[in-house]
Amino acid sequence: MTSTETIIEIKNLSTEFGNTQVHKDINLSIKRGEVIAIVGGSGCGKTTLLREMLGLTQPTSGSIKIFDQDILLASPEILLKIQRRFGVLFQENALFSSLNLLENVAFPLHEHTRLDKNMIQELALLKILMAGLPSSAAVKYPAMLSGGMQKRAGLARAIVLDPELIFLDEPTAGLDPNTASGLDELVLNLQATMGLTIVIITHDLDTLWTVTDRVAFIGEGVILDVAPLAELVKNPHPLIKEFFSGSRGRTAEASHSKGKDKHGN
Ligand SMILES: Nc1ncnc2c1ncn2[C@@H]1O[C@H](COP(=O)(O)OP(=O)(O)OP(=O)(O)O)[C@@H](O)[C@H]1O
Ligand SMILES: [Mg+2]
Repeated sequence: MTSTETIIEIKNLSTEFGNTQVHKDINLSIKRGEVIAIVGGSGCGKTTLLREMLGLTQPTSGSIKIFDQDILLASPEILLKIQRRFGVLFQENALFSSLNLLENVAFPLHEHTRLDKNMIQELALLKILMAGLPSSAAVKYPAMLSGGMQKRAGLARAIVLDPELIFLDEPTAGLDPNTASGLDELVLNLQATMGLTIVIITHDLDTLWTVTDRVAFIGEGVILDVAPLAELVKNPHPLIKEFFSGSRGRTAEASHSKGKDKHGN
């Protein structure tokens, strides 16, 4: 359920790398409980915006408030406290190859809590099950897991500290269509059961149709539009039209009840 409370507020954000201006003036407000996707052409600055929200890259100017705290002005201690309240699934999963699944998922609990070892193992196992993985997978190493299982493992780790907010970078990239739709379902389930706010960067039109409440489209350094997908696809801006046209866009739209989004609009 989307509430009226703002959980992330990005204002007048600009980003330059040398002479290249990636973001000119990004303004975006994300509500608690919503699933929002950030999309746009390659190189428009999606990953950069994500890294800025995570506190890993500094924008040139503007402000980013998360949980009402300006993360660009926050001290390292405050930033760490904010970071502890969100989870991230990186595009490459970023699982430690030398740790088994249970150890990978338990890692943030060792880092951020003082729970005893048994409790940590139990909590990690619970999250592994919530991510739709069998308990028998707990002792396996990342290289022994399929692509879809690795994503689920990354998701289990992203939710292990019971975050309010999670960021997912291309969660279905490289997965076959069945595995991808299983992951979309999992994201929806987690959103419903944990009341999460979810920010997804994705190129996957099926994911956009199935799981998002709103989609923010970046182009020309600004948010060109942010709206439920069924509305966004009608925007006549050439960059938006181009993104959703072509056989890829039409197939996805047709297979989701003739352009009906998650809410049947
Ligand atoms: N650290 C950096 N130094 C210099 N240029 C950078 C840096 N990071 C990103 N860029 C440039 O900023 C632009 C936006 O990059 P970004 O990775 O955010 O795009 P994107 O929207 O995620 O693209 P894609 O869909 O291909 O992943 C690109 O032109 C990229 O080359
Ligand atoms: Mg990217």
